Amino acid sequence: MRWLVTGSAGMLGTDMVALLRERGEDVTAADRASLDITDPVAAHAAVAGHDVVVNAAAWTAVDDAETHEVDATAINGDGPRALATAARAHGARVVQISTDYVFDGTATTPYDESTDVAPVSAYGRGKAAGERAVRETHPDGSLVVRTAWLYGAHGTCFPRTIARVAAERGGVEVVTDQVGQPTWTVDVAAVVHALVTADAPAGTYHATSSGQCSWFEFAQAVVVAAGLESSVVAPTTSDAFVRPAPRPAYSVLGHAALDLVGVPPIADWTSRWAVAAPTVLGPPAG
Ligand SMILES: NC(=O)c1ccc[n+]([C@@H]2O[C@H](COP(=O)([O-])OP(=O)(O)OC[C@H]3O[C@@H](n4cnc5c(N)ncnc54)[C@H](OP(=O)(O)O)[C@@H]3O)[C@@H](O)[C@H]2O)c1
Repeated sequence: MRWLVTGSAGMLGTDMVALLRERGEDVTAADRASLDITDPVAAHAAVAGHDVVVNAAAWTAVDDAETHEVDATAINGDGPRALATAARAHGARVVQISTDYVFDGTATTPYDESTDVAPVSAYGRGKAAGERAVRETHPDGSLVVRTAWLYGAHGTCFPRTIARVAAERGGVEVVTDQVGQPTWTVDVAAVVHALVTADAPAGTYHATSSGQCSWFEFAQAVVVAAGLESSVVAPTTSDAFVRPAPRPAYSVLGHAALDLVGVPPIADWTSRWAVAAPTVLGPPAG
């Protein structure tokens, strides 16, 4: 199978390309300089000769999207449409990576894949537009794979930031009132590979770790992995830490669709963090 990975220099894109190569797949890695996904002509040319397109390219600056919604939606909504159009024309499947931000975060039980989207931020609206675009454009050949609370070795992410700040300042405040599923980019890449190789039906799938925790609990696990005491993390609340884009309070996604197609959901976040931490945080200082 011939794979095209867009946004290949991003945090997920880098691990997506690496995992596919490790598994012996034929992969074209397209970073932003080699393919701007908002250019339909370039997308058409780039998709030619591939069987699967994984769109890991996105505008991911969640707060900046509030003041640049048109620009963010051009990448997160129109980009996926251009890729899905090209994929359909060339008989390829398209995997659109999406996010928990398509939901409003007011649920109290895990979001099903079929729950109606209700984004409350500009970023969430753009990502929801991307989901709609691939479903409308390529209904039989599109997989929407939502993930959340992503961390990896090749980008700025919560654990790397927390470990650095806690070490530099000796303490860090983290919110207790947002709950989700910390998820390793390598695990998302493995789910995408498994879905495609299983020839999973077009539809929506959730690739997040199992279990759940607050950012505060995740931060405690991070600092312990970094060799610090968990007490360096102090609790705070979202009210004391207001940011331009509202954060969903509850971002736990259910995995029923994966179960139905026989792809095992990602294991509990605690066990996956234990495996990922040395790679994501790098070797301990000193
Ligand atoms: N990070 C998270 O916590 C999280 C959570 C849920 C879902 N997701 C989703 O996961 C996917 C991957 O996210 P990530 O964390 O890996 O993001 P990332 O590290 O910011 O990577 C995104 C990549 O897309 C590239 N890009 C931006 N605009 C582009 C364009 N017009 N054409 C081609 N490439 C473009 C970026 O290039 P430049 O850097 O040069 O702009 C960057 O390399 C995204 O769909 C995101 O919405 C992320």
